[in-house]
Amino acid sequence: MDDLIELTNKLQTVVTSVGADNALDLPLITVVGSQSSGKSSVLETLVQRDFLPRGSGIVTRRPLILQLVTLKKLSDSEYGEFLHIKDKKFYEFNEIREEIERETSRLAGGNKGISREPIHLRVYSPKVLNLTLVDLPGLTKIPIGDQPNDIEKQIRSLVMDYISNPNCIILAVTPANSDLVNSDSLKIARQVDPEGKRTIGVLTKLDLMDAGTNALDILSGRSYPLKLGFIGVVNRSQQDILTNKPMSTALEAENQFFQQHPAYKSVAARCGTQYLGKQLNTILLGHIKEKLPELRTKLSTLISQTKQELNQYGEPTRSTEALFRGPLILRMLTKFANDFVAAIDGTSAEMS
Ligand code: GDP
Ligand code: NA
Ligand code: MG
Repeated sequence: MDDLIELTNKLQTVVTSVGADNALDLPLITVVGSQSSGKSSVLETLVQRDFLPRGSGIVTRRPLILQLVTLKKLSDSEYGEFLHIKDKKFYEFNEIREEIERETSRLAGGNKGISREPIHLRVYSPKVLNLTLVDLPGLTKIPIGDQPNDIEKQIRSLVMDYISNPNCIILAVTPANSDLVNSDSLKIARQVDPEGKRTIGVLTKLDLMDAGTNALDILSGRSYPLKLGFIGVVNRSQQDILTNKPMSTALEAENQFFQQHPAYKSVAARCGTQYLGKQLNTILLGHIKEKLPELRTKLSTLISQTKQELNQYGEPTRSTEALFRGPLILRMLTKFANDFVAAIDGTSAEMS
């Protein structure tokens, strides 16, 4: 069934490359929360790579649609690719961060403004689960820098655009060192998912809680009702970032934190980034299974539409480019559709 997620990701790629982004409403996992709650850090830890701009203040200023693709061989080297830069593989993750920063400034300016236009990034790695994640600007209240007066409204509406999609799984991030009743992420998630069916609570900064307090009540679901529960994580601190603490060391430290903490010891197996990754994959899979019949219908519509368009290109007077490009896209789509349907039917799909 893991293959099914991989096929879904591939399908998304094809659909994006033919410019039919909205034709397939595939499940996305979106991170929401107040500014500096640790959203970008959570995504980074899930990917186990250092590549997202993050820090205090407004750093994420455009949506980032991040598609993770599992490489089968552990020896394969990881790389990233942007949709806006064709045919360039980024093997240096620092360069990925620089490119995100450059692309952010290009559309959102250099001074804290935001843009609704997403950046599309794909990360290939043997160390990631097949997931598509969306990083969003943080919910904020007071305009700074170039931000317009209605910045709060603008960011809310941007966030709403993503999370109101019933096909979106919401990763509602709340820092453990602030009060859960003030959580912006839970408030906004509740508006679109009142029953808490597609919201997963992520409690960050557990290491920064006041001495003598802990979040066991929240983690065990006694404080706030969410069907998918709350998962506690410890991301790298600003100090860890400044001293370049390796991801693997941070992950190890996170595991130690939960295993040795007097309050969390007993629930350590259901805490931390690795557990979050596993939960996400399970949730996503369940979601895809539910969506399969609908996906199948949409896919065949897309194929017949493409076929019709091709018939129009069929005239010899059309440009050779259109003639060559069209059939290739159709072949790709058909191939993916066949793979997809084969996987759905449980027969062995020939993977390219
Ligand atoms: P975002 O604005 O929600 O994307 O938050 P960032 O991921 O940019 O993180 C904001 C700041 O909080 C950074 O300096 C991070 O290092 C820090 N941070 C995030 N999560 C944690 C955590 O779990 N523990 C600690 N100590 N710091 C964290
Ligand atoms: Na931030
Ligand atoms: Mg961020």
